[in-house]
Amino acid sequence: MKPIRKAVFPVAGMGTRFLPATKAMPKEMLPVVDKPLIQYAVEEAIAAGVTELIFITGRNKRAIEDHFDSNPELEADLQGKNKLDLLERIQNIIPSYVSCIYTRQPAPLGLGHAVLCAAPIVGNEPFLVMLADDLIDATTPVARQLVEAAHQHNGSIVAIQQVEPDETDKYGIISGQRIDTLTTHLSAIVEKPAPADAPSTSAVVGRYVLEPEIFDHLRRTQAGVGGEIQLTDGIASLLKARDVFGYQYEGTRYDCGSKSGFFKATLEFGRKYHGL
Ligand code: UTP
Repeated sequence: MKPIRKAVFPVAGMGTRFLPATKAMPKEMLPVVDKPLIQYAVEEAIAAGVTELIFITGRNKRAIEDHFDSNPELEADLQGKNKLDLLERIQNIIPSYVSCIYTRQPAPLGLGHAVLCAAPIVGNEPFLVMLADDLIDATTPVARQLVEAAHQHNGSIVAIQQVEPDETDKYGIISGQRIDTLTTHLSAIVEKPAPADAPSTSAVVGRYVLEPEIFDHLRRTQAGVGGEIQLTDGIASLLKARDVFGYQYEGTRYDCGSKSGFFKATLEFGRKYHGL
């Protein structure tokens, strides 16, 4: 498999669960303690060796572009006040060898559609997809765990975790053949099945390494659950043609797309990393 240099960040969702906070800004800009969710995800991707960040934005893209851009006025102010620690923190969010590209999803037609919007920029190479609202605290960044596993198994790979049987209708759920303690060779993947219909309790979370063949499958994918073009359905089609794996990552995930997960992340990151 070719090296994985590009990461796609879909940030064009409506974020309705956080209204009114997300009325004028994407939910990926919500901060856990002092850092927006999107910055945690960007740092994780860079730690996995990515050098090109591709943001799929919606109506409220400005806040994200501004966050990763320089801010000369603020920098001069911090310099003048000798607040050098803060200056360093806002200047070096993205190393100079990493570039950012922004493209627009014309309407929020679903995660699969958002990923498809990256096709002309990704081209013919494997890439990461990072959902910033899944914040994962891990010793080895999960994106790096996945990239290594994708190279080892030579195929697309999705991060998975076990969920309670009554939670399957919140996730993509996989089934397949276990090939080692952490890895499953997928035979099926379904979006948000009712507990009675779920093929397992192995749920997909927001980290994927995908081969570029996914784009052809997404182009043929019809709207599914919720009337949206689902990435899960694209992967269900891909796995009929190519190897796709599930990888049980090491780490603690916080579902920051939900208020309870976001609250828990704030408390635990505050205690663990900020002495609060
Ligand atoms: P969610 O399913 O969490 O939807 O999207 P949402 O609209 O962001 O949030 P709620 O449910 O209304 O509160 C999962 C990820 O996919 C992106 C979102 O930005 C989020 O990162 N997404 C979703 C898009 O980029 N485009 C879409 O059309 C849908």
